[in-house]
Amino acid sequence: MTDWLGRTVLAVTERDFVRRAFTNTKPGRALARRFVAGESLDEAVAVAHELIAAGFDVSLDHLGEHVSHRQEAMQARNDYMACLDRIGSAGLSANISVKLTQLGMGLDDDLAASSLGELALRAAEVGTTVTVDMEESEYTDSTIAIYEKAQSEHGNLGIAVQSYLKRTRADLGRLIPLGGHIRLCKGAYAEPGEVAFQSNDDVNAEFDQLLGMLMAAQETKPAIASHDEARITAAKRLIPDREAPYEFQMLYGVRGPLQRQLLDEGLPVRIYVPYGAAWYPYLTRRLAERPANTLFFMRALFGRR
Ligand code: FDA
Repeated sequence: MTDWLGRTVLAVTERDFVRRAFTNTKPGRALARRFVAGESLDEAVAVAHELIAAGFDVSLDHLGEHVSHRQEAMQARNDYMACLDRIGSAGLSANISVKLTQLGMGLDDDLAASSLGELALRAAEVGTTVTVDMEESEYTDSTIAIYEKAQSEHGNLGIAVQSYLKRTRADLGRLIPLGGHIRLCKGAYAEPGEVAFQSNDDVNAEFDQLLGMLMAAQETKPAIASHDEARITAAKRLIPDREAPYEFQMLYGVRGPLQRQLLDEGLPVRIYVPYGAAWYPYLTRRLAERPANTLFFMRALFGRR
């Protein structure tokens, strides 16, 4: 969830000269490396191996979103196919996380839907699942529609939902009966007051309500995707009443000691591992969540000159 400072970071990082300062400088690329496993599949697989050896599960995200040509959307599908092939051949305890605007949603929804179906099919062949990330609110309807179709045809998908959206409670009524896994997060985009709660307190209160719904639903597998200790504590309180599987999820590079602590407590934890050359929009959302990250970058950039 992005507060006013986070929104400012998002607005500033959209500027071209700021983007260049991040992508063309050593401090910018170094900051990205804190949150991104690398630009190649090999680098991502190496990070996945380390995490899995430490006891985590992994979700691999080949970065990219909002493609402007069908060719790019088809390339994204092929990149994910290669990722699934590696998950299979390396025997990784990993699934994939996919943004539908990267597969062409918004440009050609049918193409995005058929690519998601192909990925789900290949994922089933290698014995894994596909999670559909949730993007800006203008795409929530089409994301859910494409997910619903793929999940009813293939049955090995899941979807992310955002507690900052006022509609999510109603959406869960549709999504839970589909039986896929559901990743609950706060939401990472700047959204207006008409559709989204604006205060941290409201977003957190809604998160806990939705968490209660998900943990009570034995037909779905909830993924508690947060680094917020209060949310994690709330989830832990619900574990004794849960019979079916659940897991915690955190982002690569964020709160490593807390990730480890949950694992040491015997809880299932999956780390979301992004990789690829198109890392800039992902990085800006990580900066907006914690504007102090931007200050580190500014200092490094300033010190360098
Ligand atoms: P909060 O932002 O309150 O952070 C709690 C604490 O965690 C902070 O005090 C800080 O210590 C630490 N922290 C959080 N973010 C940090 C950062 N970037 N750098 C350093 N420290 C940080 N969103 C979305 O809209 N669609 C999606 O599909 C997903 N998918 C997703 C998957 C997974 C596995 C996770 C963990 C998160 C997402 N998100 C997402 C992002 C999510 O919506 C949210 O923006 C971030 O998780 C930050 O929110 P927290 O719940 O961690 O709380």
